[in-house]
Amino acid sequence: MAKLNQTFFLILSICYFLSPALTAATTALRAGASNKAVNFIQSSCKTTTYPAVCFHSLSAYANAIQTSPKRLAETALAVTLSRAQSTKLFVSRLTRFKGLKKREIEAIKDCVEEINDTIDRLTKSVQEMKLCGSAKNQEQFAFHMSNAQTWTSAALTDENTCSDGFSGRVMDGRIKNSVRARIVNVGHETSNALSLINAFAKKMAVYFRFNHHFLASLLITITITTLKSVHTTTTTNTEFVKSLCTFTTYPRLCVTSLSTQSSLIQTSHKLMAHAALNITLASAKATSAMMVRVSSSSRLKPREVSAMRDCVEELGDTLEELRKSIGEMGQLSGSNYEVYMNDIQTWVSAALTDEYTCSDGFEGDEMNGKVKVLVRGRILIIAHLTSNALALINHFASIHC
Ligand SMILES: *[C@@H]1O[C@H](CO)[C@@H](O)[C@H](O)[C@H]1NC(C)=O
Ligand SMILES: *[C@@H]1O[C@H](CO)[C@@H](O)[C@H](O)[C@H]1NC(C)=O
Repeated sequence: MAKLNQTFFLILSICYFLSPALTAATTALRAGASNKAVNFIQSSCKTTTYPAVCFHSLSAYANAIQTSPKRLAETALAVTLSRAQSTKLFVSRLTRFKGLKKREIEAIKDCVEEINDTIDRLTKSVQEMKLCGSAKNQEQFAFHMSNAQTWTSAALTDENTCSDGFSGRVMDGRIKNSVRARIVNVGHETSNALSLINAFAKKMAVYFRFNHHFLASLLITITITTLKSVHTTTTTNTEFVKSLCTFTTYPRLCVTSLSTQSSLIQTSHKLMAHAALNITLASAKATSAMMVRVSSSSRLKPREVSAMRDCVEELGDTLEELRKSIGEMGQLSGSNYEVYMNDIQTWVSAALTDEYTCSDGFEGDEMNGKVKVLVRGRILIIAHLTSNALALINHFASIHC
């Protein structure tokens, strides 16, 4: 009986973030129980990269969020979007300052454009989260969830590029600091929103698995065989690679880098993510070796040699993170799935951050033009490959059941 009650409670709590009608009823029941909501926000925020920022911006919405992981993720996205909008306004007003150099105006305009892209991507993510809420089945849910994850990851990448333009000697110190602080804050909010979206996706994967077992016990094999046949009637392997690449931020790079692996990938989402990681690792290894070679060249200035060394170190971290991810990807199984998948998502995001830190070191006028262009170009390719791998991993995670 106790077990039955527990199951019933589980169904109720799941429906809580699935059905708006039930949600309203439960909210009414819970009116006044906002301590519970605050505790929920606090414990959820602990799993993000910037827990204090998370709690500070989201606790104000405790009454609206209650204990719904879906609304928590949606609110985090909405808060991030509004921060990005006010940052855009702030940065665009800077062009009105008198006596700015042409170079400074350019940096401001570039930055506004980047923030504009961020806003665009966050807006798309908000829309996809809404569509997740009205999804009729797991396939639809997984599709929109993966889009929301990809758009949010892409927004994170824009913010890095924007703050790059304000490093080096461009701009007066105070303005620069103020712009960077705001952009860094939008970056932290975005990163937190992404963690909360991933957490919601994971909870839903558990729900679908549960629902699946429930249905299976009623309909026995019908559901499973239908699902399987849908998957096996897919077209050729190359088309599978192409179709999955549409989920990534750099689809063309995705197709060119992965279509040679299509016979290995067949129609497996897992192998696709695995292959994307393998290719990213190979590319990062080659670039790291190239940089070690270049940095021993006597024609480099001391400043360039030190930036190169720092970058090789960052790339070393990237290699380590990718190797660990590939290791766990190969050992993924039903019992360790949640833990390993969480590790992989965390490591690959960290690898992306390290790559951007590495390319930051090559900003500024002091650097030799050729070295700068060479290194930044190579690092950018690795970052794009990493971002694609992350999108494929997120997609795989969201359809897993
Ligand atoms: C910002 O993005 C919107 C839509 O993506 C576009 O119409 C607009 O021209 C962009 N503005 C700037 C300043 O880039
Ligand atoms: C990834 O690389 C490992 C080790 O080199 C290899 O065994 C595996 O088959 C590769 N997997 C894919 C999907 O490319």
